[in-house]
Amino acid sequence: MTTFDALRPGKPDSILALMAAFREDPRENKIDLGVGVYKDASGNTPVMRAVKAAERRIVEEQTTKVYTGLAGDPAFGEALSGLVLGGRAPRERLSMVATPGGTGAVRQGMELMRLARPDCTVWLSDPTWPNHPAIVDHVGLKRRSYRYFDADTGAVDFAGMMESLGEVVAGDAVVLHGCCHNPTGANLALDQWRAVAELIAERGAVAFVDIAYQGFGDGLDADAAGLRLLVDRVPEALIAVSCSKNFGIYRERTGLLIALSANAKVTQGALASLNRLNYSFPPDHGARVVQTILGDDALRADWAGELEEVRGSMLGLREQLARELRDRIGSDRFGFLAEHRGMFSLLGATPEQVETMRREHGVYMVGDSRMNIAGLNATTVPRLAEAIVAAGV
Ligand code: LMR
Repeated sequence: MTTFDALRPGKPDSILALMAAFREDPRENKIDLGVGVYKDASGNTPVMRAVKAAERRIVEEQTTKVYTGLAGDPAFGEALSGLVLGGRAPRERLSMVATPGGTGAVRQGMELMRLARPDCTVWLSDPTWPNHPAIVDHVGLKRRSYRYFDADTGAVDFAGMMESLGEVVAGDAVVLHGCCHNPTGANLALDQWRAVAELIAERGAVAFVDIAYQGFGDGLDADAAGLRLLVDRVPEALIAVSCSKNFGIYRERTGLLIALSANAKVTQGALASLNRLNYSFPPDHGARVVQTILGDDALRADWAGELEEVRGSMLGLREQLARELRDRIGSDRFGFLAEHRGMFSLLGATPEQVETMRREHGVYMVGDSRMNIAGLNATTVPRLAEAIVAAGV
């Protein structure tokens, strides 16, 4: 037996496996509601206007491609943390490193937890993005789930959530989705954020916020309002930021990990050394694009305007789908689809119904019935509604 015979393929990620199955389906009228990628009405994922303009400027003006720093260009961290935190947390308590995408930030955050508190428990919402538990397991931390979603109402089960979190102890990390909860689309109201912040602070736990869809829910500031409230209250937090979706730069791998702590200098050193150990310097191109856009009034306004259009189109699709379903079943049972925010909604179909929709109608959603609303358009919404009703959801 050779050394590598011992290897086993990693457990397939449900989202990535679905991407592959969709590609292989020869049907022309198939509908992709799988991976969280924004698509316009013609099914394209366009490069945003401001991104193109920033890239042109970078090509023209960049004079070197020498290494940045281990934390990436500090100006990127300043600009992006400003967008997320809106100046709310005291700067002297913040540390930050650029990371390869939001996933990189989640991974570095979990590694930081392991360095600081190897015996901690990481609390994840039930359900959550499948890569959360996978990363927690991979770095070797313990994890538990807290109740989050009420499948009957399609809303947050807040009483259940607070009851589960009643068992959080000092040093644990509580992972929260900053906005546009993935996969459910159901989000905490501001007073609920306040209560969770209070609980985390009282317990001496670490708030770990994954914010990957700022601007896709209720707007750039509204989507960060809960997180801003939280950082006002808790002494320690980790914030994993992704630019993949709201800047549409998925493949550039652009993210930031922000830490809020009492001794920001020490935390900064630990974060920089984690970057060094894992990949030395974080990728720069996407970060430079983001920094260029955020630092230029005209580009920033154009980007925010285009993001608003994207948000508006997803809201329109949500409303259309809820209406089409109401017209077909004569009840408002799917009204929650219009209340949810962001790219995703959990439909509440069984795995068998999900399979039927895929087989009979070429509708691809994740097995837990997560739908990427941005994968729809005005023409496919009625077909989806038809498939949902025909599958008996
Ligand atoms: C998703 O949940 O579909 C996205 O976050 C993409 C991914 O990497 O899974």
